[in-house]
Amino acid sequence: MNMQNKVSVDNLVYMEGISKYFGEVMALDDVYFAIKPCEIVGLVGDNGAGKSTLIKILSGLYPPTKGVIYFDGKKIHFSSPRDAINAGIETTHQDLALVDDLEIHRNIFMGREPKRLLAGFIPYLNKQEMIREAEKALGNIGIHLGSVEDIVKNLSGGEKQSVSIGRATYFKAKLVIMDEPTAAMSLKETKKILELMVRLKETGSTVIFISHNIHHVFSIADRLAILSRGKKIADLKISETTEEEVSTIIMNN
Ligand SMILES: Nc1ncnc2c1ncn2[C@@H]1O[C@H](COP(=O)(O)OP(=O)(O)O)[C@@H](O)[C@H]1O
Ligand SMILES: [Mg+2]
Repeated sequence: MNMQNKVSVDNLVYMEGISKYFGEVMALDDVYFAIKPCEIVGLVGDNGAGKSTLIKILSGLYPPTKGVIYFDGKKIHFSSPRDAINAGIETTHQDLALVDDLEIHRNIFMGREPKRLLAGFIPYLNKQEMIREAEKALGNIGIHLGSVEDIVKNLSGGEKQSVSIGRATYFKAKLVIMDEPTAAMSLKETKKILELMVRLKETGSTVIFISHNIHHVFSIADRLAILSRGKKIADLKISETTEEEVSTIIMNN
């Protein structure tokens, strides 16, 4: 059980004794997970290991059945993804992060639209400002997608991920959670997303990177945690392990 450094200021995230049941199904069993600021932490493990459930708890989608979460030095209880976003946690899973039918700029500012007061008291969305700022948000980290007035539906998987990353950097997310961002992505797109994750770290965000591809995790992460059937079975510094060792641990559990 990894209980060192509990709620110390060293940790941006400390998940303490997290269990999650879906009816009879145990998705997570007493997981302890600590993350330091500006780390890229890989979260790996077989299908059904509990990776998505763990980060859905951290991103306010599900409450844990048991356990406590500390974020940025405070005990937190998220009752919705909006609570997590307001606390500085951006999650970019493919099916949840963006609204397909809205333009790129609307997606970037979703729920945080710049508002001005019309006639001094009626709030309205300043579209030009949103477009300008959205271009800046993406351009600053080297993302060029044509027009930010394009509808998200028409973007490729990689482009959608970059919009999420642009949003996270623009709002200076403390933690960015990426659940299988490179799944079903071309080599070129994958390379770009991995680069953007490193960029996030350089600009002061902490990143949780869930992937099936251990090679991708090794290419950018500082540390990785391995889940197997709802339990955390290893927590290793990348510099102190190898891809072979990690594959063997996953295979044998
Ligand atoms: N909403 C849900 N309802 C019921 N069971 C779920 C739900 N979400 C996940 N599970 C179950 O919890 C376990 C962990 O799933 P998940 O966290 O998605 O694993 P991973 O992301 O590592 O593939 C699996 O057995 C899965 O079937
Ligand atoms: Mg998953």
